[in-house]
Amino acid sequence: MAHLSKLIHTTDLLDSIKSDAISIGIYEDGSLTKNGKAINALIDNQIMNAHDRGDIKGKHCETNIFYSNYGPVIVIGLGKEKEFETECLRKVGGTLAKKAIAKKYGHVVCENFGGKGTADYGQALAEGLIMGSYQFNDYMTKKKDELFELNKVTVSGGSKVGLDKGSITANGVCFARDLGNHPGNVSTPTRLANDAKKIGRRGKMKVSVFDREKFTELGMGGLAGVAAGTDEPPKFILMEYWGTKKSIKPKVLVGKGLTFDSGGISIKPAAKMDEMKFDMCGSAVVLGCMHAIAAIKPKINVVAAIASTENMSGAKAYKPGDILTAYNGKTIEVLNTDAEGRLILADALSYVSKHYDPAFIFDFATLTGAVLVALGHVATGIMGTDVKLVERVKKSSVNTGEKVWEFPLWEEYCEQVQSKIADVKNIGTPMQAGTIAAGAFLKEFVDEDIPWCHFDIAGTAWGEKEKPYGPKVGATGNIVRLVLDAMGV
Ligand code: BES
Ligand code: MN
Ligand code: ZN
Repeated sequence: MAHLSKLIHTTDLLDSIKSDAISIGIYEDGSLTKNGKAINALIDNQIMNAHDRGDIKGKHCETNIFYSNYGPVIVIGLGKEKEFETECLRKVGGTLAKKAIAKKYGHVVCENFGGKGTADYGQALAEGLIMGSYQFNDYMTKKKDELFELNKVTVSGGSKVGLDKGSITANGVCFARDLGNHPGNVSTPTRLANDAKKIGRRGKMKVSVFDREKFTELGMGGLAGVAAGTDEPPKFILMEYWGTKKSIKPKVLVGKGLTFDSGGISIKPAAKMDEMKFDMCGSAVVLGCMHAIAAIKPKINVVAAIASTENMSGAKAYKPGDILTAYNGKTIEVLNTDAEGRLILADALSYVSKHYDPAFIFDFATLTGAVLVALGHVATGIMGTDVKLVERVKKSSVNTGEKVWEFPLWEEYCEQVQSKIADVKNIGTPMQAGTIAAGAFLKEFVDEDIPWCHFDIAGTAWGEKEKPYGPKVGATGNIVRLVLDAMGV
């Protein structure tokens, strides 16, 4: 992994700091900030002249470079001043980071652009800079000499508290991206468990890992069933963070950690099967959040559970027609071994429902191809049982710029997962409302009185159109920031 790690706040003027490049912003109407005016004056009014001639338009994220005796000056468009809000600043940060890498500027000093002095703007700028600087080059041994990393940005002005917070949340995002980007032979359940332990040590968390024998004995028949076809050791991972009195109910995060999904006996087609290394991105959201929580140490309680295995077709693999018994005792008729995510989540959801008294449960999973059909790579599909909790999620979605869209969990859909020979079956009506059927299945494993929201990230965990602060390819780390916001971290 590589991303900007040194983000420094200063109140010094831009030109007084030694760097490889300076960066300021310009609005569409040509107005500059105080810092911008000083730099413009220093380089003989070049920026204003260019705007007057129409060579710079100030459109949002447009970039121009001026070469002066003071070094390169990167001028970034801020769009219309009236419309400038945190997501704009996040995009400006990402644009600057990518430009600096392309031009091989290792240390850039910048103003806080249109950012008001408040913490949320500082946070947005830090997030944009760090997320935008992310590169996944770990396996590029031949091109090593051509690779370039942005390692230092100094920000003049704005909120230091916000910058620090944004550094932490963005580091969580980059951590989640890395977990997703490493291939299935590296990001194994064992690796996820070891990463959870590392985070736990830093954040004073209690981490427990159950191996195959242990979780099978405990009655996690869904996870045991899916894991039967692989020799790669599966894990059930629990993390407990107690940041306040134990009497305060914990917020609970559950993740699908399917480190490779071949479909099992109901095998997937060969095309794009490699992408199923990303099928653990739900667990990456959980670990990305816990990574940030370990750094912030907020005064809340959080419990995380990850069910992790491969879905393979080894000699002992579970088969269509098999009936499994989940941790809460419900029996599941398996009609398609490729609908495995819901089986391992069934155990994780019933486990946390029984052993913790959750304030609420969020679960994250690359659960259905159908969500991609419905929402494309644009929005995460959400479903929940508690109106207030879902509203909270929608509000955080606006705060962080990570789009969500709610699906209904009406009883007509819930009927679709009822089985004729067991309590439930693992698929709904073929070709119909596949994302909702999966949500309706999960609902069977969450106690009715626990507020719960399910996030289907199959469309948003990778493959989105490149955003200024997003990756060109690979895992996005989406919704880590949304979840932290919704938890009040
Ligand atoms: N991990 C997949 C979902 C998926 C598919 C995510 C494509 C991203 C891209 C999941 O385990 C799965 O295979 N779901 C099946 C369910 C079906 C058999 C009811 C699907 O969506 O096809
Ligand atoms: Mn599958
Ligand atoms: Zn899957």
